[in-house]
This record gives sequence, structure tokens and C-alpha cells, in this order.
Amino acid sequence: MKFRSLKGTRDILPDETERWQQVEQVIHRVLKNFNYNEIRTPVLETTALFSRSIGELTDIVSKEMYTFTDRSGESVTLRPEGTAAALRAYIQNNLGEQGSLAKLYYIGPMFRQERPQAGRLRQFHQFGAEAIGSAAPELDVEMMLIALQIYEDLGISNTRLFINSVGCEQCRPYYKELLTQELLKLKDKLSSDSQSRIQHNPLRVLDSKDENDKALTAGLPLMKDHLCAECSGHFAEVQRFLQSLNVQLSIDGRLVRGLDYYTKTAFEITSSDLGSQDALAGGGRYDLLVKELGGKPTPGTGFAAGIERLMMALGKKGSALIPAVRPRIFLIGLDTASRSWAFVKTCKLRRQGIPAETDYSERSLKAQLREANRQQAQFVVIVGGQELQSGSAKLKNMRSGEEVTVSLDALEQSLK
Ligand code: HAM
Repeated sequence: MKFRSLKGTRDILPDETERWQQVEQVIHRVLKNFNYNEIRTPVLETTALFSRSIGELTDIVSKEMYTFTDRSGESVTLRPEGTAAALRAYIQNNLGEQGSLAKLYYIGPMFRQERPQAGRLRQFHQFGAEAIGSAAPELDVEMMLIALQIYEDLGISNTRLFINSVGCEQCRPYYKELLTQELLKLKDKLSSDSQSRIQHNPLRVLDSKDENDKALTAGLPLMKDHLCAECSGHFAEVQRFLQSLNVQLSIDGRLVRGLDYYTKTAFEITSSDLGSQDALAGGGRYDLLVKELGGKPTPGTGFAAGIERLMMALGKKGSALIPAVRPRIFLIGLDTASRSWAFVKTCKLRRQGIPAETDYSERSLKAQLREANRQQAQFVVIVGGQELQSGSAKLKNMRSGEEVTVSLDALEQSLK
């Protein structure tokens, strides 16, 4: 029997991990520049954490979670996103002591049982940040800037930022009622998905991907035009800061995120280099969520971004990335004694911090040289009985072809 990885999951193979590590370095660097600290939470959490925060009726909770009963009878879920767990950890570990602002970030695998397609997996990776403990619009803007900075540093252009406000517990109920009345008039013509959303989440109808739904709902009232004074002031401030930083933005009054916890700001960043799954990142403010999860009422804001989608947008680009580590030297032994010497020397070079490699099988000189080339080694040294006896050998620069005689004992110094 042959085993295969599960549908919607994939191996990240050695020729890709190099690039992943480089991208991760940029992510860590930018987030640290913005003064965020990494948090690592478990992949497995109690199911109620997600249904409470993301919302029972969302697609994620109602259709996509990997939920099962463990051997002690508890319902547990593989995390579909990072915000709920970050907030759980914030509350559990008192990270907001004395009212301080907690600036957290995370990178890791998330799980959603969606229909797999390009840019949509069942195990995918996100990086994300959460700022918990402040209601300032500046922090909403900071979230957008972090994501945009990471894309810019990686050379990903063709990004677009869309923002909206989804209101708060003051203004949203009035708007919801207004929208519901309008939607009921169209009910029979809407798609069945949208019809079932009218009652429990009418805002999502505006976000429908169905072309007919889009046309039917084109003229309907939008939340952003029915905000209370506070939400409208907040939304104006977000725009003002983005403008003073010369950040290009589009206001999308129909942008409603697929998670129920948002209040006020919601945003998405898309890339025209991606196909139908064009959202690189999404986020927004969630001022009621900490309380909803059992903490003291505490405002917060955050975002998350898919790494597989980032990789797709990066495509063949990435010259800006840090060059990969290749063996600085490849040691070739021509007989058994020289091969042992080469292995021991390789280990000693590595101990000195010099990337070194050798051949572990009894291959011909030609095959070993080919291997050194394949690994893009910078230098090669070929050692046989004669070289061991004289204590010196030729060090060949694989790029220029130039050769110099070096002392085998002083190889480290020559390379340094
Ligand atoms: P989200 O929009 O569900 O938000 O996911 C954020 C990003 O994760 C998406 O824009 C996309 O790039 C990536 N993503 C989502 N699902 C998949 C999938 N099945 N395959 C590949 N990539 C995917 C959240 O998760 C929120 N927790 C964001 C947030 C943080 N809001 C506030 N704080």
C-alpha cells in the first residue's frame, strides 16, 4: 500500500523550504520593527473557543472545522485561525496586566476543510498580528502597514488595500434591520446561500460572489453610510492616517469578512497576481471579542495573511531575498583514508561555522565533482594519498576555475 498526503494538504519540499525560511525571516524582522512579540499557541484547542469567537453560523465554524471528540470525551478542534487562540492566551496569562497594550504575532499552520483549489488548502500557513488593549485607529492602520511592508520588502507589487467599517453594537443593529427589510423584498431572486443568510447574517449577502446576487444588491444601503458618530469618526481617522502616509486605498462598502467578531474597521489586501482566491491578507478590529471570551472588556485589532498565497504572488521573483547558504567548500577524498580525512575535516570546518560538505559514498572523482557543482559549492579540494602525505592540496575556485595550493592543516584560515 502506498500512502499519500491528505487532500488539501501538501509537503513543503527541500527546494521550497529555503524560500520559506527567507520569507519567514522577513516576516519576523518587519514584525519586530513594529515592536510585536511572537506567541506560539497550541494547534489544538477546545471547540467552543472557535464557535464563540468566529461565530456558530459562519462557514468556518458550521462547515470547515476539523473537530473531533478526543479520548476523554472533550470536543477539540484544529485551529482554523490564530486570533481566538491569541486572545485565549492573552486572557489566561494576564498579558494585559495594568492595562498595558499587548502586541503579539504568530506564524503557523491553520486548518479548514474547504474545497481545495489554487491558493486554497486544508492545511495552510498564516502569519498574523494582534494588538490587544487599545481602541486607537492608529493600530488598525499599523496592521495594514505591517502587511504592506512585508509584501514590499519581498518585492510583491500589484497589491491593493480595501477598507470598510462594519460598525459597532450601537449602529449595526439599526442597519441590519434596514438591510434585512430590503433583502426580504428580493428574497426569491437571490441565490439559496444568500437567502439563508438574510435572517442570521444579512451583511454577508452583500459579500456574495454570485454574479446575480451582486447585480440585485448593487443599490442597497451600505453600513459605512449608516455609522454612528463614533464609528464614523474612527473610520475617518483610519483614512486620514493612511492618506498622510501616502498609502493607496480603496473603500469597499461591501467588504464583510467571513468571521463574525469584527467591529468598526475591516480590511483586505488582494493581489492581481493571484487567481480567484486573491486575498493575501485580511483583518480588522474586534472590540467585543476579549469580553466574549471571558476577559475584561478590552478593545483589539489584528490581521492575518496566507503564506502559500504570498508564495504564489512572489512567483519567480524574490531577487531581493537573502542568498541561500551553499557549501563554501566540498571535500573530495580519492581513497578510503582520504575519505575518512575529508569527513573529519568537513566536521571541523562546520564547527568553525564554515558551511562544508563531503561525499558519503565511494563515488568516482567525476561523480563527486558533479555533486559539488550541483550543490553550488564555492570551492573544492581534492585529496588523495599524495596530498595526505605532503599535507597540502589544490583548492579550486569552482566559479573562476582558479587553483591555489593550500596547507591542509590551515584550510580553515585559507577559507576565512
Ligand atoms: P481570514 O481572512 O480568514 O482571516 O484569513 C486570512 C488569510 O489567510 C486570507 O486572506 C488568506 O490569505 C489566508 N487563508 C485563509 N484560508 C485559507 C485557505 N484555506 N488556504 C490558503 N490560505 C488561506 C483570519 O484568519 C483572521 N483571524 C484575521 C484576523 C486576525 N483578524 C483579526 N486578527
